[in-house]
Amino acid sequence: MSLLLSLIIPTYNESENISPLIIQLTSLLDRTLEQKYEIIIVDDDSPDLTWKIAQDLSDQYPQLKVIRRQGEKGLSTAVMKGWEKAQGEILGVIDADLQHPPESLLQLWSEIEKGADLAVASRHVEGGGVSDWSLLRRFLSRGAQTLGLIILPGVIGRVSDPMSGFFLVRRRCLANSTLNPLGYKILIEVLAKGKIGWISEVGYVFQERQEGQSKVTKQQYIDYIRHLVRLRLSLWRFERFIRFGVVGLSGVFVDMAFLYLLSDSSTLGLPLTRSKIIAAELAIINNFLWNDSWTFRDIAQTQPGKRRKIKRFIKFNLICLAGLILNVLFLNIFYNIFDLNRYVANLGAIAIVTIWNYWLNLKLSWRS
Ligand code: GDD
Ligand code: MN
Repeated sequence: MSLLLSLIIPTYNESENISPLIIQLTSLLDRTLEQKYEIIIVDDDSPDLTWKIAQDLSDQYPQLKVIRRQGEKGLSTAVMKGWEKAQGEILGVIDADLQHPPESLLQLWSEIEKGADLAVASRHVEGGGVSDWSLLRRFLSRGAQTLGLIILPGVIGRVSDPMSGFFLVRRRCLANSTLNPLGYKILIEVLAKGKIGWISEVGYVFQERQEGQSKVTKQQYIDYIRHLVRLRLSLWRFERFIRFGVVGLSGVFVDMAFLYLLSDSSTLGLPLTRSKIIAAELAIINNFLWNDSWTFRDIAQTQPGKRRKIKRFIKFNLICLAGLILNVLFLNIFYNIFDLNRYVANLGAIAIVTIWNYWLNLKLSWRS
């Protein structure tokens, strides 16, 4: 029988919460999904023997599976482990401490049935909220969200509650992604790396913890910031920018070589300005060919055909000429191309022009 839903419950010291949660979840899901679901508890060898209670429960509830991890720890890697073992078309995660009301799962499920790729339980939409959180906790949660919006606007801004740990996602949206979350926030990893189209949000009130203690420590906040920065760098495709810089450097040498060959030393002995313009244009052609076949190869391959390649070249040329004019106006490198000190003295400005050129070409010439 193909399973529709695999719901993961990460647990650490939840011995007093896990039974009431499983009783509520199984009665809700039996009614909605019959037997086409599984609940996978991933416990990190809880000292309070949550894993033992869960194993005893699994004798009673055939839909319940238990993974007891020994020597590994961490909420998000526990969920990843559960998703790895999961068989369902839809993957989900819910906390074990009843702070996520089990009945909200049915609303998430109906959003998935309507066709959503991702259904998120949110505290910040109609019907959402938190029980009596301290001002500090509210400030920290909203602060974390604002920081996320600054570092990863295109990701964090897609949902109203990116901190939520209660959501369902289509497995196929994660098919070719390698998820590698840090800390507590799995949802931002899914949003950043999954192929997520339709997102639906369901309001819920984040309840008071029933029993036991929250495991959130300072470390989770540090992990969250590290996670954001790591995602930012990976989404920036940092190695693409490095390639762009290397190609730019090759262009400087092409420029120098042709300037030397065309102007004073060669038989051609062209006037300096004319040889400079020809050398600069040859350097631009060099850079375009390398960028199109190496730096932006993956994007160029989605735009086949000579006409589109010529269009990319014209845009690239115009952007580079603008950069060249900036060099002439502010760095005066145009005629002093062999003066390496001038490059060193202006490294900062050259870096800014390179980043500017990279971003413009990525957005305009290669349109990513
Ligand atoms: N396996 C495992 N390993 N589970 C863990 C670990 C761990 O190291 N640490 C926490 N958990 C489990 C807890 O047992 C609980 O089921 C769930 O993860 C959330 O842990 P809490 O300690 O209750 O976190 P919280 O109440 O502060 O909730 C915050 O984080 C949750 C997870 O992202 C809030 O932001 C929630 O919205 C969010 O769902
Ligand atoms: Mn909790």
